[in-house]
Amino acid sequence: MAVIAGNWKMHKNRGEALAYLQEFAPLVAGSDREILLCVPFTALAVLAEKLATTGGIALGAQNVHWEASGAYTGEISPPMLTDLGVQYVIVGHSERRQYFGETDERVNLRLKAAQSHGLTPILCVGETAEQRQQGLTEAHILAQLAQGLVGVKLTQLIIAYEPIWAIGSGHTCQPEEANRVIGLIRKEISFLQQVGNQPADSVRILYGGSVKPDNIDDLMAMPEIDGVLVGTASLDPRDFARIVNYRQPD
Ligand code: PGA
Repeated sequence: MAVIAGNWKMHKNRGEALAYLQEFAPLVAGSDREILLCVPFTALAVLAEKLATTGGIALGAQNVHWEASGAYTGEISPPMLTDLGVQYVIVGHSERRQYFGETDERVNLRLKAAQSHGLTPILCVGETAEQRQQGLTEAHILAQLAQGLVGVKLTQLIIAYEPIWAIGSGHTCQPEEANRVIGLIRKEISFLQQVGNQPADSVRILYGGSVKPDNIDDLMAMPEIDGVLVGTASLDPRDFARIVNYRQPD
């Protein structure tokens, strides 16, 4: 099933989150897509309560610590999220890597902790504009996967290919190019599944970076793209509903 995930980043208080849901939920009712809202920690509880009765929309967080509890001021642990009914968590988003010093080692710890508490992590990988210009896209992504996925189960996992130059920039990656890179990631995952003797379950691989109502249909028409991770356009309930309700070619 296609995964359509919204990443609200640092937007919306509780009242705004509830107003959004009221408008958004009817627009996607009965959808056969897996819909996911990754919202600020502070909006999780109110949305969880509402979604328990609405159904059809899952909740995700945008980061998680690797310990279950402890002296880690300012952090949120996996059991704190599952206690709220959270099922997914974004790990290693490029904004965390860029502004908060996130490393592949820590990404790896977070992925393992999330999985061991029953959360499905969404691992973000992607190259900078400079790396792309230098022809380093493939090597960079393979290195992020190699380091991030040590000891991580290759089931109960979603990967998002998010070229950094496409995030929040309005410059979407061409669908064919996103398809090519995602195909490469899929090959690597199935190789890692083989060498690690892990079941060849399908790991869903999303595209993220300036996904909008006017490019979603072309992106989702690509055979390797299993879904999208949407920032800016997920903040507007009508835009995000249009993305959820993308149209498939006849
Ligand atoms: P964007 O963000 O859709 O605003 O480009 C995507 C993301 O950061 O996940």
